[in-house]
Amino acid sequence: RRYARIIGTGSYLPPRRLTNNDLAAELAQRGIETSDEWIVERTGIRARHFAEPDVASSDLALQASRKAIEAAGINAQDIDLIIVATSTPDMVFPSTAAILQHKLGIANGCPAFDVQAVCSGFVYALSVADSMIQTGVAKRALVVGSEVFSRILDFNDRTTCVLFGDGAGAVVLEASETPGILATELHADGSHVGILCVPGNVSGGNVLGDPLLKMDGQAVFKLAVGVLDKAARATLEKAGLTDADIDWLIPHQANIRIMQSTARKLKLSMDKVVVTVDQHGNTSAASIPLALDHGVRSGQVKPGQTVLLEGVGGGFTWGAVLLKM
Ligand code: ACO
Repeated sequence: RRYARIIGTGSYLPPRRLTNNDLAAELAQRGIETSDEWIVERTGIRARHFAEPDVASSDLALQASRKAIEAAGINAQDIDLIIVATSTPDMVFPSTAAILQHKLGIANGCPAFDVQAVCSGFVYALSVADSMIQTGVAKRALVVGSEVFSRILDFNDRTTCVLFGDGAGAVVLEASETPGILATELHADGSHVGILCVPGNVSGGNVLGDPLLKMDGQAVFKLAVGVLDKAARATLEKAGLTDADIDWLIPHQANIRIMQSTARKLKLSMDKVVVTVDQHGNTSAASIPLALDHGVRSGQVKPGQTVLLEGVGGGFTWGAVLLKM
């Protein structure tokens, strides 16, 4: 069998870091009240990074991609597929992936496109790249999650603006006879569009509708904990593995309580979960590759280990990828 195997990871956080206290002080100037205690207790978030206004998703993606390409020990020109998962693209079009291809100096004409599945975006993008590698369409794919979520936050809404951050993570996947990605599982249920969305759009030269993020946090929470376990089990079943075979769970980093609940259902102790939500906040499509790169570079996640990635987000979308490092 031809597998898609991760041969390099990379990530990038913009330098501007705000602790909960920093953010609370900024919000206080707008008359919005929040506190470190509230944010930590409800979400586990302690800090997040925000990009400067002139920095786009493709800029964050570029930094993360360079690191992943370096870790993979290949030249950028060797990449023959680029997929970027983002909900905060540089432009309406062309895709952030096409912009990234040019910024990386890749002039080999390889396909480049974006995937839009909000916080499940990276899991979606990885699954698409896996399929394209398995079928022989691609040999070496760059898969990136990159977001400047700060651009779509409503800083007058304390129930959402404290939750998110900016950043990017990337992996290089290569065709291999050695197992890499073992199983993938993707889902969507468009009946829940309204619980997590940015309803606005560009029309006739104006923004039509609200261009900022809206979320019914409790509805999202309930749906998230219900679907993640099923997706995880489905990938394990496809690969002929069980909970006990998982070395690391790397879930979308939205809320520590959702992560704890998923770990509990999979009978995994929290020492087997890579946690970065405390330092990154929710970086949407970037959160899983950021956490994966953190796990790899900190020495937690080692070659040969079995890793379960899980994403959930707006759409409603969800999915999982089970892989061998
Ligand atoms: N600071 C202080 N108080 C606040 C804040 C804040 N930042 N935000 C809300 N509150 C208050 C509310 O006004 C409310 O006060 P009230 O009781 O006087 O009315 C109280 O805190 C409780 O608010 P709830 O919304 O009920 O708080 P809840 O316990 O549900 O926590 C949260 C909210 C953290 C958003 C939670 O619902 C959650 O994590 N949901 C999942 C969200 C998520 O994971 N989204 C991302 C997944 S998909 C994606 O990543 C795009």
